[in-house]
Amino acid sequence: MKALILSGGTGSRLRPLTYTSAKQLIPVANKPILFYAIEALRDAGITDFGIVVGDTAPEVMAAVGDGSRWGIRVTYLRQDVPRGLAHAVHIAEDFMAGEPFVMFLGDNVLKGGVTDFVRRFRETRPDALILLSRVPDPQRFGVAELRDGRVVRLVEKPEVPPSDLALVGVYLFNHRIFEAVRVIKPSWRGELEITDAIQQLVDWGCAVEPHLVEGWWKDTGKPEDVLEANRLLLDTIEPRVEGEVDASELSGRVRIGAGTRVVRSVVRGPVVIGEGCEIEDAYIGPFTSIGDRCRVRGSEVENSVILEGCVIDRVGVRIDGSLLGRGVVLERAPDRPRAISLVLGDQSRARIV
Ligand code: DAU
Repeated sequence: MKALILSGGTGSRLRPLTYTSAKQLIPVANKPILFYAIEALRDAGITDFGIVVGDTAPEVMAAVGDGSRWGIRVTYLRQDVPRGLAHAVHIAEDFMAGEPFVMFLGDNVLKGGVTDFVRRFRETRPDALILLSRVPDPQRFGVAELRDGRVVRLVEKPEVPPSDLALVGVYLFNHRIFEAVRVIKPSWRGELEITDAIQQLVDWGCAVEPHLVEGWWKDTGKPEDVLEANRLLLDTIEPRVEGEVDASELSGRVRIGAGTRVVRSVVRGPVVIGEGCEIEDAYIGPFTSIGDRCRVRGSEVENSVILEGCVIDRVGVRIDGSLLGRGVVLERAPDRPRAISLVLGDQSRARIV
């Protein structure tokens, strides 16, 4: 069995964070989202990976390399334009060389991994095994309609969803999917949809086995989803302090990287702080991830994702539910005039009290 990870696309819903970086590389609990997919597939015993890349190929390739760090082999599959998930499958046909594979969308995180699904697929040998999860907003996803436990219909982002069962971005296929992606037509959004390709399998009478996932699953397509995935993943971290902690109070699960100094501060986990940071006279509250080389001084932060190289200096209000890109500087302004001064990238969002 091989793996196919999709790490192309444009990531427009995560702008401005993804103008300069692939959305799959946004760190959650200080680890790129994509790495969780790689580790889940590696833990299922898969060693041969194809990774679909697009415009952000150089960044993805620099982050993942040849895969030897995980004991896997990575082949990069170049997609010229993001023509859809089924198109990504189409360009992977030669790489798969007739073997069944697990396809994993590089911006999805699935608690509990894929080991059980890989085992089940090997045992029951269907043509496709799809994972489903109940969601409150099915219009945002591919949606499945089941009858007597069998898949009867699949629709991509329906205006009127036939159920609340969303297609999780993890699929197991045998070679028949390649026939299906060859016959489907682009959807209203101009993409070759994997949902339509699976519907084609259903129409041909192929065995498409549905599975309801029990643990949480997150598609990190929007900033709110990144924050939620961060909360869910921080809940599972092991505490570890490698840096220096001085006159500070740490409680709950807290991870502090090497070369980081925490001075006269309160840190309430779950929290991860990367390497080489300076945290001084600060409060870092639950569900916060702070990347490497950040400086937080005289400020309060909670429930936020702060990427590497940020400075938060004497900000007078607590920062909450925020996502800061690399190298962002938030600092106290002089008392007069009483005004805020901003340099924000295109489509940034700021809420001010
Ligand atoms: O997250 C689950 C959902 O993923 C499913 O419920 C939907 O049925 C499925 O179509 C997909 O919907 P999205 O609209 O969320 O897919 P998105 O365009 O965000 O692409 C998913 C990943 O695949 C993302 O990491 C980018 C990558 N991608 C996307 C396209 C369209 C590619 O590598 N190539 C592509 O052509």
